[in-house]
Amino acid sequence: MAKVNRSNIGLSLLLSLLLCYFITDLEASSSHQDLNQPYRTGYHFQPPRNWMNDPNGPMIYKGIYHLFYQYNPYGAVWDVRIVWGHSTSVDLVNWTPQPPAFSPSQPSDINGCWSGSVTILPDGKPVILYTGIDENKSQVQNVAVPVNVSDPYLREWSKPPLNPLMTPNAVNGIDPDRFRDPTTAWLGLDGEWRVIVGSSTDERRGLVLLYKSRDFFNWTQSTKPLHYEDLTGMWECPDFFPVSTTGSDGVETSSFVQDEVKYVLKVSLIETLHDYYTIGSYDREKDLYVPDLGFVQDETAPRLDYGKYYASKTFYDDDKKRRILWGWVNESSPAKDDIKKGWAGLQSFPRKIWLDESGKELLQWPIEEIETLRGTQVNWHNKILEAGSTLQVHGVTAAQV
Ligand SMILES: *[C@@H]1O[C@H](CO)[C@@H](O)[C@H](O)[C@H]1NC(C)=O
Ligand SMILES: *[C@@H]1O[C@H](CO)[C@@H](O)[C@H](O)[C@H]1NC(C)=O
Ligand SMILES: *[C@@H]1O[C@H](CO)[C@@H](O)[C@H](O)[C@H]1NC(C)=O
Ligand SMILES: *[C@@H]1O[C@H](CO)[C@@H](O)[C@H](O)[C@H]1NC(C)=O
Repeated sequence: MAKVNRSNIGLSLLLSLLLCYFITDLEASSSHQDLNQPYRTGYHFQPPRNWMNDPNGPMIYKGIYHLFYQYNPYGAVWDVRIVWGHSTSVDLVNWTPQPPAFSPSQPSDINGCWSGSVTILPDGKPVILYTGIDENKSQVQNVAVPVNVSDPYLREWSKPPLNPLMTPNAVNGIDPDRFRDPTTAWLGLDGEWRVIVGSSTDERRGLVLLYKSRDFFNWTQSTKPLHYEDLTGMWECPDFFPVSTTGSDGVETSSFVQDEVKYVLKVSLIETLHDYYTIGSYDREKDLYVPDLGFVQDETAPRLDYGKYYASKTFYDDDKKRRILWGWVNESSPAKDDIKKGWAGLQSFPRKIWLDESGKELLQWPIEEIETLRGTQVNWHNKILEAGSTLQVHGVTAAQV
């Protein structure tokens, strides 16, 4: 939860002692609730089995929500043969597993298909930009496109032979081990696409490199990064998006309504393993992001959540005009336990995210669809619970209370 909502957590715990919502009909991602699997969650997203980390390329396409994720199809621990797992949903609550969208198959991604994002082009077609680990163990940026755009489930993806689109080299001075996680691209006033990629220098300057393209396939590195901060180390999984200053509706990533938006830059700092954001302005002429006074893109910046929460990513939901946030929850259990239970990792329940009226922090709340998981409501007023007493609730059969 956002910082501002922390006090609400205490409040809602208190309320839940008084108001108990009984979830009677649970059909979330893990509908196969297994009594031998006490740690499997009831309504957080999890694939049926195996390892999962970063959320990738969330989107809505032809009324279907898509979530891709870093996925190891071979077991419950991370593996270099990481692929883009894929699931679809009509309500962001109940999910259908799909075959992995793509796996290592080209010289430019033969050592892993790492994180990336989806951009919806003006003709409505989605395109994925993702990091590949190439045959020389260098991080490069690749593209994947749907095979059949008439299929709302986008079950098949192909990789054009022109991959990789962006490479580190001696001229641009980018370290081949620190060049990853392209964001959703956005259009500039000049009609050219922009995208940022996380990186850092040998001197621990964290930065987001900016690339521009007319056609989305031929990308040229800008002379200046969109933003940087010294002594912050590698910036992973950047996310850059506009937020409205006039309400809680989301703003499409390429939106031009300059006067009514602020911008948010989120980075995942590898040195602390937390997600931090700043609020600021985006100078469209100079292609620079400038955090507002009081914000610095380092570990003093506000966090998107506490506890284990990393590699988060938002998308704009055009159907419900909201921006939705996903984040990887790394359970951090020992590998031997994960192997035993056959899975590891979950995604936080999707949250709507928007700018507080003050303009100084983001607010977030579980999306309204979570309420469809709630069944019978039982109210108790002014009931005093004696220490050590037991209380029976009648008339409900619940998988979770
Ligand atoms: C890997 O390195 C070799 C030797 O320098 C080069 O010929 C090859 O093109 C490189 N592969 C990629 C995918 O860049
Ligand atoms: C593309 O998807 C549509 C909708 O699912 C389907 O009707 C059509 O047969 C598919 N085309 C091919 C070539 O698979
Ligand atoms: C790619 O874009 C750059 C910059 O606009 C241009 O100079 C170059 O000719 C383009 N290359 C191709 C193959 O289109
Ligand atoms: C995830 O948990 C493992 C095991 O505790 C830990 O080594 C790793 O650093 C964690 N990663 C993140 C991103 O929290």
